[in-house]
Amino acid sequence: MNLNHRENVPGGIGQSESRLAHIAFIMDGNGRWAQKRGMPREYGHVQGAKTMFDIATLVFKRQIPCMTIYAFSTENWSRPQKEIEALTSLLHEYIKKARRIMEEDNVRFRFIGDYSRFGDKVAAMIEDLVRDSAGNRWMLNTALNYGGRDEIVRAANKALAEGKTMLTEEDISRHLDTAPCPPLDLIVRTAGEMRLSNFLLWQAAYAEFYATPALWPDFDEAELEKAIAAFSQRKRRFGGLVNK
Ligand code: IPE
Ligand code: IPE
Ligand code: MG
Repeated sequence: MNLNHRENVPGGIGQSESRLAHIAFIMDGNGRWAQKRGMPREYGHVQGAKTMFDIATLVFKRQIPCMTIYAFSTENWSRPQKEIEALTSLLHEYIKKARRIMEEDNVRFRFIGDYSRFGDKVAAMIEDLVRDSAGNRWMLNTALNYGGRDEIVRAANKALAEGKTMLTEEDISRHLDTAPCPPLDLIVRTAGEMRLSNFLLWQAAYAEFYATPALWPDFDEAELEKAIAAFSQRKRRFGGLVNK
């Protein structure tokens, strides 16, 4: 699909939806999805990666300019070695596919978290992709070896390295991995879990949270529409009294 031009989206873009500038997904339930089919957990991750690209296309088609996905947490290293190896090899495929999507769909790829832990080869592929897609329009952040606490600590250390001795909220905010992105509006979590699991802790302060029982590989356009519709019904007051 060509996303280089604005186009009329079936169903239109409501006023509330157009205010959705940054959507994030905690893509959970890949393992359960595979196990339900008598397949190894790794098969669920392969399916989950396909879903991710399909959902990114739908998000950008709706003119939502920024999407962030949780692909691997700082805590996921505690999984069995076999699963980590499968995820690392999937990451190579993901980056190769991302290079095609970057050109076809005008997507700007960014990565958040300390991805260097995946090794020099992956880090070099990521840096090439980030550099080569830097001028593109739609922003897709992949969280890799990402933890919200780790991100805040790294941000604080960057501010201290500038010579600051007392930090402000602004000092932390501008050093977060997501600093160039619009403020986070909506976090969607699949597989029925009701927690953040260390995702975007700082950015989540006033984001809306939406959970669905759907397992990530089953998350489709109808599910996305339900999440966006729920968001458009929310009254965001940011501590004040004025309805949105
Ligand atoms: C999410 O699916 C993907 C990653 C954490 C890498 P899970 O692998 O957590 O799937 P479940 O929660 O075990 O079903
Ligand atoms: C959160 O899912 C991390 C990702 C989706 C990458 P987990 O499956 O790791 O989270 P917990 O263990 O259920 O909290
Ligand atoms: Mg899980």
